Amino acid sequence: MTVIDSVRSYGPVVYDIRRNKEPLDLKKQILGGLSSSDPELPSLLLWDDEGLRLFDAFSKTPDYYLRSKEMEILEHHVEDMAERIPPGSALIELGCGTLQKTGALLSALERQGKNVSYYALDVSPEELAAGLSILFETFGSSKHLDIRGLLGTYEDCVAWLASQSGIKRATAVNFLWMGNSIANFDFFGASSLLSRFVDSCFASKMPCQFLVSIDACPREDKILQAYNPDNRSLSEFILNGLRHANSVLGQEIFQVDEWKCVTKFDHRDRTLKVYYSPRRDIDSDIDGKRFAVNAEQGILAITSGKWVETDVHAMSAKAGLRVVDVWRDTDQAYSFNPW
Ligand SMILES: C[S@@+](CC[C@H](N)C(=O)[O-])C[C@H]1O[C@@H](n2cnc3c(N)ncnc32)[C@H](O)[C@@H]1O
Repeated sequence: MTVIDSVRSYGPVVYDIRRNKEPLDLKKQILGGLSSSDPELPSLLLWDDEGLRLFDAFSKTPDYYLRSKEMEILEHHVEDMAERIPPGSALIELGCGTLQKTGALLSALERQGKNVSYYALDVSPEELAAGLSILFETFGSSKHLDIRGLLGTYEDCVAWLASQSGIKRATAVNFLWMGNSIANFDFFGASSLLSRFVDSCFASKMPCQFLVSIDACPREDKILQAYNPDNRSLSEFILNGLRHANSVLGQEIFQVDEWKCVTKFDHRDRTLKVYYSPRRDIDSDIDGKRFAVNAEQGILAITSGKWVETDVHAMSAKAGLRVVDVWRDTDQAYSFNPW
C-alpha cells in the first residue's frame, strides 16, 4: 500500500489501496461487455474525476429527488444515526463522491464526543482529495475525529480490510453507503459484496455494521423524471463514460456526438436502466474484434434499483444481515437502513 498525495502538508492522508493500478482490467471488461448479446460497458467508466464532477452537477438538479430526500433524513435523524456508531470504531464511507452530505454525520459524532476514524473511499483521486480537503477544514482540528482517504474500489477495500493492520486498532467497522449506490448492483451483486465486507471484518476480528440509503420511490413517473435524458446534466454525465472508454482503449472508438442517453424503467426488477444509445447502427472493431450495436438496443451504462422494503430485507438476509432500524423521509419513499 502506498500513501499518495496528502492534500496539503497538514491535510488528510489518502491511502492508495488499489491492487491493480493499470486500466488493463477495465479494457478487458469493456471488450467483454461489448461482445455480450446484451451489450454493456462497466459502470466504473462513469466515475473518473470529470464524471464525478458531472454527477455532482446532475445530482443537484431539482428533479433528482434522491439527494434532497437523503438530506431531509439526515437533518431529522442524524443524531440517532451517530448514536449507533460506537466510540473507538472506524467509519468507512463507500463511494463517497464529493462528500457533501458527510459533514452532517461527522458533526453529530463530534457533538457526541466520540473518537472515530473516518475513511472516505472512492475511485477518483482528484475529487477524493478535493472533497477531503473541504472536510478537513471543518474537522481537521477535531479532538475526536481522524479524517483519511482510501483510493480504490469496493473490492480493493474488501481486500484491504482483510489484510491490513492499521485499522485493527478499531473496536468495530461501520460502513456508510449513501446515494442509493448499493442499488447500482443487482440483488445478488449487492448481497455478495456485503457478505464479503462482513467476511473481511470477521477475518480481522472486528464486528461491523452498515448504514445504507435506499431509494424505494414507488412512482414510475417521478423516477423517469429524475433520470430524464433531456436533462443535459444527465446526458453529459453519462456520455462522459464513452470519453473515458476511449481513453482506456487508447483510440477514439466512440464518437461521442453520435451517441445520446436513453433511460428505461424495468418493472420486473424495479430497476431504472440508463443506456448509451447510438444515433445510427454502429458496426466497428477494437483490436480486430468486431462489435455491433443497433440504435434500438443501445449499450447499458448503469442501473439504479428502486427496491421496496421486502426486497431490502431479502437482500440483507441473503448477506447474513438484519435490518435493525429504518429512517425515512416524509414521503416514506427514501430510507436509511442500519444493518
Ligand atoms: C451514485 S454516486 C454516490 C456518491 C455519494 N455517495 C453521494 O451520495 O452523493 C456513486 C459513487 O460511488 C463511487 N463508485 C462507483 N463504483 C465504485 C466502486 N466499484 N468502488 C468504489 N467506488 C465506486 C463513484 O465514484 C461515486 O462517487
